[in-house]
Amino acid sequence: MAKEKQIFFCQECGFESAKWMGQCPGCKSWNTFCEEKVVVGAKKQTLMREAIAPTSILQVEKTDEVRFTTGFAELDRVLGGGIVRDSLVLVGGDPGIGKSTILLQMCRNITEAGKTVLYVSGEESMSQIKMRAERIGTFSKDMLLLCVNELAYVEDYLKKARPDVMIIDSIQTMITDDISSAPGSISQIKEVTARLMRIAKQMGIAIFIVGHVTKEGTVAGPRNLEHMVDTVLYFEGDRNAGFRVLRAVKNRFGSTNEIGVFEMTETGLAEVNNPSQVMLDGRPEASSGSVVVCSMEGTRPLLIEIQALVSQTNFNLPRRTAVGLDYNRVNLLLAVLEKRAGLILSGCDAYVNIAGGIRLDDPSSDLGIIYAIVSSYRNRPVDEHLVAFGEVGLSGEVRAVSAAEQRVYEAQKMGFTTCVIPKSNKDKMKKIEGMKVIGVASVTEALEIIV
Ligand SMILES: Nc1ncnc2c1ncn2[C@@H]1O[C@H](COP(=O)(O)OP(=O)(O)OP(=O)(O)O)[C@@H](O)[C@H]1O
Ligand SMILES: [Mg+2]
Repeated sequence: MAKEKQIFFCQECGFESAKWMGQCPGCKSWNTFCEEKVVVGAKKQTLMREAIAPTSILQVEKTDEVRFTTGFAELDRVLGGGIVRDSLVLVGGDPGIGKSTILLQMCRNITEAGKTVLYVSGEESMSQIKMRAERIGTFSKDMLLLCVNELAYVEDYLKKARPDVMIIDSIQTMITDDISSAPGSISQIKEVTARLMRIAKQMGIAIFIVGHVTKEGTVAGPRNLEHMVDTVLYFEGDRNAGFRVLRAVKNRFGSTNEIGVFEMTETGLAEVNNPSQVMLDGRPEASSGSVVVCSMEGTRPLLIEIQALVSQTNFNLPRRTAVGLDYNRVNLLLAVLEKRAGLILSGCDAYVNIAGGIRLDDPSSDLGIIYAIVSSYRNRPVDEHLVAFGEVGLSGEVRAVSAAEQRVYEAQKMGFTTCVIPKSNKDKMKKIEGMKVIGVASVTEALEIIV
């Protein structure tokens, strides 16, 4: 007999508990438990057991991976080479960042290529979508809209017709009758996603679901959702700055950490073909504390400006902030400078910032961060045609990074003339015409270059 049971779920991470708790043991956030009703003991769908037997891997026939283009080279790159037919993709991002816009633009390109698309919206009316569509351009009749919240209606439609691609905007607004809790609750989201996954695999439809993110930057509610889908894309960037970065954080069909760069324009999102140029736009001239680094974003080198401001503190405890960088990494590099290079930074406030609102996790930016800090500390600008990259260890050594040659070529392409790179990378590199490449083995050696 099916019985309704009350379970408490953490709305941040999906932790399940029989009783209410103030702090979640899973993600340590406070006041996030909500009560949800779940039917237990419901009759599960039984499979035809005798029809299922293991198969030898040698007998499994491989079906060709069917991919088709989104019409955006940047989006194709993030997806690992285009949309895989029966896949489930989650697109997350801050409110108003442009999730609906990019998906609608993608739908337009796909329908133009002769495929059918079903766009299911649970949060906007048909006329609102039409307004956005008019901003973007003209659409063909194969672009179908459905404004419903119940997943059952969508399933009914899919029994009659099979679009090639379906968009669900957003997962938090979809509900299924099997679960009695409110739309957007953990159990609803999980159930709807699981059903969409089944639809994608059984019917061969590529499904894109939009997920809103919480203030911590995870897809609202469940981290579990990330495990359930094939690909997770995050839209990030400063909403006030024009450009947006689309990043793959999980991809079953391609490499992760690939990024696509877009710019929000009046007619929708436009691809940025030379992201380094955009990242360096508006860079101050001959200013202390500004240094350009070259980070690898997937297979693509990207030049990014790092800014630091170091000033005497007026407090007992100096202030440190890091925007777009790992805070602990910046603290560690400050400690390395203090210990290995003899800079007295304990009496200084230090603010380190990545210009343009992008996030940088590549440790190859360490050397650039160090240069920016020292340049601001000494109040002396670094040569503006210089690019630095290299990982810095706790003993002050500068360690090798991957794809060094590719990074140097990118710097050369953007008009830089000097590169400071790890010595072990320099030793393996052939001479590059028109570029002065300096290899350094330690932080002290590196600092001698910019005195
Ligand atoms: N005419 C316009 N010119 C330039 N940018 C515009 C224009 N109209 C809207 N925008 C941009 O589009 C954004 C809204 O995009 P969109 O609705 O796709 O975002 P979203 O991520 O789907 O938001 P939500 O979380 O509300 O669903 C706005 O924040 C704004 O930056
Ligand atoms: Mg939207």
